[in-house]
Amino acid sequence: MVAKNLQDTTTLHNGVKMPWFGIGVFKVEEGPELVHAVKTAIKHGYRSVDTAAIYGNEKGVGQGIREGIKEAGISREDLFVTSKVWNTDLGYESTIAAYETSLNKLGLEYLDLYLIHWPVEGKYKDAWRALETLYKEGRVKAIGVSNFQIHHLEDLMKDAEIKPMVNQVEYHPRLTQKELHSFCKEHGIQLEAWSPLMQGQLLDNEVLQEIAKKYNKSVAQVILRWDLQNGVVTIPKTTKEHRIVENASVFDFELTEEDMKRIDDLNQNHRVGPDPDNFDF
Ligand SMILES: NC(=O)c1ccc[n+]([C@@H]2O[C@H](COP(=O)([O-])OP(=O)(O)OC[C@H]3O[C@@H](n4cnc5c(N)ncnc54)[C@H](OP(=O)(O)O)[C@@H]3O)[C@@H](O)[C@H]2O)c1
Repeated sequence: MVAKNLQDTTTLHNGVKMPWFGIGVFKVEEGPELVHAVKTAIKHGYRSVDTAAIYGNEKGVGQGIREGIKEAGISREDLFVTSKVWNTDLGYESTIAAYETSLNKLGLEYLDLYLIHWPVEGKYKDAWRALETLYKEGRVKAIGVSNFQIHHLEDLMKDAEIKPMVNQVEYHPRLTQKELHSFCKEHGIQLEAWSPLMQGQLLDNEVLQEIAKKYNKSVAQVILRWDLQNGVVTIPKTTKEHRIVENASVFDFELTEEDMKRIDDLNQNHRVGPDPDNFDF
């Protein structure tokens, strides 16, 4: 079923409801612009915020959340907050400590989703055990991974007690990740797109521009709608109010099967971010 509005949710395999749509804050530094972006997103109906320890902005995200929910008259429980454990903290004790640090910085009592940011060989299994402990203790609502390829997931699940609920990966019309997506679907793991707009590099694509014109929408809106119709959670980043509104205005049109296919066909297995099988950080 395709999301019907900005607050619509997908149900993760443990029953937790996660919004299909959220705001990302990668590369947004601590400061008023960050706080304003988070607050503004909440004001316009966003209910999901994606950050990570390595972004160095959890304090401001927390402030934006506190101010945003107050102004919107909603409660913490109405929001879905994600953060991620960084590579240098992967390990059983160190991951638990990293979770505490993230919570303290955010000023929150729990996260809705905590992810292993990258599949560092030899380290992600201990980190996963830590996430399982946090989950079993009821300290986090859902746990998952990011940047995991099929072989990483297979390896993790060999020893895991709990299957990841989410895999957040680079995903856009130049990187459609069909096999990974099928694998995740088979195992009940929700796929989530990072850099859904390919960091702004797809906006002048002629095919997307032609499709956008047909629906009287922007290229960004067409891409984000394509995510939703593909059953992929999406978290575009912007700090600008007009784009916060624009990106979320994707619930009043539907791409035809033919246009979905034209967008799928733009795939070139092209990444703007690091390759999960070949990174050294
Ligand atoms: N798990 C991971 O390893 C990982 C890696 C990367 C990102 N992420 C997450 O995914 C989120 C999104 O990815 P991303 O930030 O890399 O890239 P993105 O969302 O694909 O693109 C963001 C860029 O597009 C611009 N933009 C946004 N909306 C636009 C619109 N409607 N029209 C024109 N330009 C627009 C933004 O500029 P302005 O801000 O100036 O509007 C920004 O430069 C991140 O913020 C982060 O939360 C996760």
